[in-house]
Amino acid sequence: MSIKIILTEDGSVTLFNDDLNEVYHSKYGAINESRHVFIQSGLKLFKEEEHVSVLEIGMGTGLNILLTFMHSNSQNVNYTAIEPFPPDASVINQLNYPELLDSIKATPVFKNIHQSAWNQWVSLDQNFALQKIDKTLQLVEFDECSFHLVYFDAFSPDVQPELWSEEQFIKIFKWLKPGGVLVTYSSRGAVKRALQAAGFSVEKIPGPKGKREIIRAFKLKT
Ligand SMILES: C[S@@+](CC[C@H](N)C(=O)[O-])C[C@H]1O[C@@H](n2cnc3c(N)ncnc32)[C@H](O)[C@@H]1O
Repeated sequence: MSIKIILTEDGSVTLFNDDLNEVYHSKYGAINESRHVFIQSGLKLFKEEEHVSVLEIGMGTGLNILLTFMHSNSQNVNYTAIEPFPPDASVINQLNYPELLDSIKATPVFKNIHQSAWNQWVSLDQNFALQKIDKTLQLVEFDECSFHLVYFDAFSPDVQPELWSEEQFIKIFKWLKPGGVLVTYSSRGAVKRALQAAGFSVEKIPGPKGKREIIRAFKLKT
């Protein structure tokens, strides 16, 4: 896997995967995009819950874990991140997220996110438990109704259409609790239709800089 570091418009870096010709975040700002799509449009919906259970599809740099940690206050968070191809430590060491967020608080947490063991629960602090799983979305399995919130952050439907399929969304729909939410940066009509076919109620909401809309999908309580 050939990975390059790229600077985005908000001063945060992202990764570029040469083999797939894909960037991990928006060129208009990695932190800006992740905050908008996953924190403001996802995590915020559960701010009154004492306990939130999050699943991230495509952990990559670990930015979404760090942002969730920084925004979760005293909530109890159980965070499961799946990533079959984690970037090398030499790449991770060049990511500037902790210093752009809150160096003193974020630096040790970011280190812990990346150095902690895979495929087991670890504590980032007394309120935040993390489980990193080195499997693909296609192979991973969870119990029904495990999660409140899914951050769907796979590579784009152009390069990995198999991840944005009705088949995968049906599995995710089952893993979500009733009232659960999936958020993603994509606004594709085909993604919207696949989510609807899987049972989701879908809306398009304003996107971050450089993107008019993004998709948010609900597993309605019946
Ligand atoms: C858009 S990038 C992730 C961005 C990441 N959330 C971040 O903030 O850095 C997509 C990620 O999905 C991972 N991925 C690739 N194939 C996958 C699969 N079959 N299942 C789950 N994740 C996959 C890639 O390795 C990559 O890290």
